[in-house]
Amino acid sequence: MEADIEQILFTREQIAERVKELAAQVMGVYREKDLTVVVALNGAFVFAADLVRNLVEHVEIVFVRARSYGDGMSPQHEVTVEICDDVEWDGRHVLLVEDIVDTGNTMQRLMAELLARGAASVRACAFLDRPTRREVEVDVAFVGFRLEGPEFVVGYGLDLAGHYRNLPYVGTLRRELRGG
Ligand code: PRP
Repeated sequence: MEADIEQILFTREQIAERVKELAAQVMGVYREKDLTVVVALNGAFVFAADLVRNLVEHVEIVFVRARSYGDGMSPQHEVTVEICDDVEWDGRHVLLVEDIVDTGNTMQRLMAELLARGAASVRACAFLDRPTRREVEVDVAFVGFRLEGPEFVVGYGLDLAGHYRNLPYVGTLRRELRGG
């Protein structure tokens, strides 16, 4: 698997340090508020697992599944949302955790859904943010790392057709594996 990686962008150590910083920022904002961490499956499961273990306050964790159609290199626009737990959303302060925000369609759709269900507040937390791909405006309150270029990245939850999510770092795939 490692032989498929062309370049490592964020190492395991850099990620661990950044996640700790993010958790501190999150705790600063939610001091004295009950927090519900909503994890967007599948990609966010690694980031969320590390993030919540750096939060020292009580949090409730809920999983949602956002599906954009297709298994290819670029996300399609239509997004369906499935909430995996039976949750009463009224009055909840929600931290919505994603692995990456590209076009913003998924995050925007998820935030709107949770607010429509009665959440008191929803803030977005993305491990990776790529504003250059944005198609819809979305406020990402907490960002791990920013991607400047169009590179297709895998690892730390991010996949290509279900593979590479378990890499402990983020890297680009070798050209011949990227397709397109
Ligand atoms: C990826 C990622 C985000 C979304 C970001 O999900 O996890 O949910 O795309 O793209 P956008 O900002 O352009 O909407 P994907 O549908 O690949 O599913 P996954 O989380 O299971 O990998």
